[in-house]
Amino acid sequence: MNLSSLPADFRWGVSTSAYQTEGAVAADGRMPSIWDDFCRTPNAIEGGDTGEQACDSYHRWPEDLALLRRLGVTSYRFSVAWPRIQPLGSGALNPAGLDHYDRIVDDLLDAEITPFVTLYHWDLPSALQRSGGWVARDTALRFAEYAGVVAARLGDRVRDWTTINEPLCCAWIAHLEGRMAPGHRDLHDAVHASHHLLLGHGLASDAVRANAESTPQVGIVLNLSPCEPATDDPADARAAERADGHTNRWWLDPLHGRGYPADMVDVYGIEPPVQPRDLEVIAAPLDFLGVNYYFRMRVAADDTVATLGYRPVPVVGAATTAMGWEVHPQGLHDVLVRVAKEYDSPVLYVTESGAAFDDVPDADGHVHDAERAEYLRDHIGATASAVAEGARVQGFYAWSLTDNFEWSYGYWPRFGLAYVDYPSQRRTIKHSGEVYAAIIRGEH
Ligand code: FCB
Repeated sequence: MNLSSLPADFRWGVSTSAYQTEGAVAADGRMPSIWDDFCRTPNAIEGGDTGEQACDSYHRWPEDLALLRRLGVTSYRFSVAWPRIQPLGSGALNPAGLDHYDRIVDDLLDAEITPFVTLYHWDLPSALQRSGGWVARDTALRFAEYAGVVAARLGDRVRDWTTINEPLCCAWIAHLEGRMAPGHRDLHDAVHASHHLLLGHGLASDAVRANAESTPQVGIVLNLSPCEPATDDPADARAAERADGHTNRWWLDPLHGRGYPADMVDVYGIEPPVQPRDLEVIAAPLDFLGVNYYFRMRVAADDTVATLGYRPVPVVGAATTAMGWEVHPQGLHDVLVRVAKEYDSPVLYVTESGAAFDDVPDADGHVHDAERAEYLRDHIGATASAVAEGARVQGFYAWSLTDNFEWSYGYWPRFGLAYVDYPSQRRTIKHSGEVYAAIIRGEH
């Protein structure tokens, strides 16, 4: 693996999110989020799993910190749970929630690990869903208020902030496909939610900049996928263009001051509810762009698919993860080079990269996950080759520190560099975690 292109201060991190790891859903004044509600919807989550316990990281933070130290990461990306800070989504603050993240930040800094805070990783306070959730414009304003509160408390020590993780999932998967909370299937709702998520990002960026004591670096995290046509039939080429519009351009264009892509407004047949100045707010300069990458998309035209008119086509013979996602490290290189070139992105981070494989612990509890280790090395290599071609990537965050609650899939997909034995909550670093630690030490 040739990593010589990476800058000397390149960050090596791991990412987690609150709802997937913390558990303790009723502790110390936290109120329900839309994910607590969605988990109670019959058949929404495989196996009827919920995030109620997850990795119990709220109580086991010292154990997770010990893992971070053992891996030797230089940065930790985690999310703050809005329903711990402002349990009803507006109004009264919960001091215990703020204290929790305050302690995490202090502990990280003591360990010389740079905190990288995500303000929204999908756990909207349920009270806000009752007033319309992201379909309602007011939620964007409430989000900015909450962001300002967190920045005022942590912004003397935290420099790096991301507003929203993967608005694509919040808008399209949660409001159009119904597979994530709040589980709607309505194109109008989805398009409106997409605009309010981006507006929330812009307003929250301003709020962080206005309230943080030190000079913050603020960005957003997008999940990007290269979208390729299945054949050289022009109909498939048009389908790939639409897939790219839906997946990538719908987010990248307005964030970079280009407004919403007109071809996609036509495809949806719905105008996003843009009010005067919204597009300016959304296009406020990004200090960095976070890129999450899991798979590429190969698509074929299919008129029977409502609205979008395309369907994914599996790549014959491709290696896949336990979730059936194609393993294609070149795609990470491609999306990084593309955003660097086409959007002139200032600074990039790979904010998530990882894979679920079927882990089988041996008698001593060790997991010899050669496939995940190879996946990691290949995606780090792809990042380095993008840097060699001019993409200014300043860090790589593996998803995830520990196995955790994988949303509607429940607990069976395991993404961790550390294995979690859920009944005992014992954590054991996997072979892939040892490999990552060696890469971080410069032994590769
Ligand atoms: C991403 C999410 C993250 C995790 C990984 C596997 O889309 O941001 O929470 O579930 O996928």
